[in-house]
Amino acid sequence: MKVVILGALSAMATEIARIYAARGADLGLLGSSAERLADLSADLRVRGAGSIKTLAVDLSAPPTSHEAVIGEFAGDMGGIDILILAYGKLGDQTLACGDLQHAADILTTNFTSAALWLLAAAKSMNGKGSIAVFSSVAGDRGRRSNYVYGSAKGGLAVLAQGMAHELAGTGLKIIIIKPGFIITPMTEGMRRSGPLWTGARRAARIVVNAIDRKRGPIVYVPGFWRWIMLIIRMIPAPIFHRTRL
Ligand SMILES: NC(=O)c1ccc[n+]([C@@H]2O[C@H](COP(=O)([O-])OP(=O)(O)OC[C@H]3O[C@@H](n4cnc5c(N)ncnc54)[C@H](OP(=O)(O)O)[C@@H]3O)[C@@H](O)[C@H]2O)c1
Repeated sequence: MKVVILGALSAMATEIARIYAARGADLGLLGSSAERLADLSADLRVRGAGSIKTLAVDLSAPPTSHEAVIGEFAGDMGGIDILILAYGKLGDQTLACGDLQHAADILTTNFTSAALWLLAAAKSMNGKGSIAVFSSVAGDRGRRSNYVYGSAKGGLAVLAQGMAHELAGTGLKIIIIKPGFIITPMTEGMRRSGPLWTGARRAARIVVNAIDRKRGPIVYVPGFWRWIMLIIRMIPAPIFHRTRL
């Protein structure tokens, strides 16, 4: 099995890579730091990974074309069975409203660049395999606390949903991952306790299980978020606007 992960240094992606390593998969890992990718590769080799190819890259601004980068991984690895697009940036909603450069950074990281990687990946996979793309429950309804990030994740989900529609019945499956509250560096500083919070390892198992079973196109992580977000989407605006969500 050949698995490529964009944003392999994310806590959830690292746990996903560990699951595939234990299955002996060949891995392609793209992330922001060569040093941390080397450490991750060493960890994955111990866990049973086959070959590992890494690329340290700013995924918001790839050095060459998106297609060339994915094509190189596909060429060196002998094809790609599973591609996971996991990188993302929460950013600061309050800052983004005053500093449009920060807003642009959030939008470019979570939507524009991710959308281009997704389109390039679909072209490079020869109509076979699975692509899992990390959106978020934040994309399901605009909320005062994170609507810049949420709009980017929502846009990415709509793009992926359209691709899933187009590719339905073909050998290439698009799976949109919508995590709820997951304990990772992204949520550091939040009050992370209570039944709505899930660890990165458990989230990774849910994602890999969804890919194994070709679930989707939309997979909430964990699944109970489907029902929470259904309720949140249905709350009428006059009531919703009185909340501080
Ligand atoms: N945690 C949650 O509650 C939650 C909820 C919903 C959705 N998500 C989504 O789940 C995915 C995984 O996030 P996580 O929770 O595992 O968070 P995380 O551990 O903070 O991982 C985010 C990763 O994205 C990388 N990244 C950001 N911009 C990049 C860029 N331009 N180039 C290369 N790498 C870049 C970061 O690199 P650095 O390490 O160098 O910063 C980091 O490794 C993300 O797409 C996130 O938006 C998370």
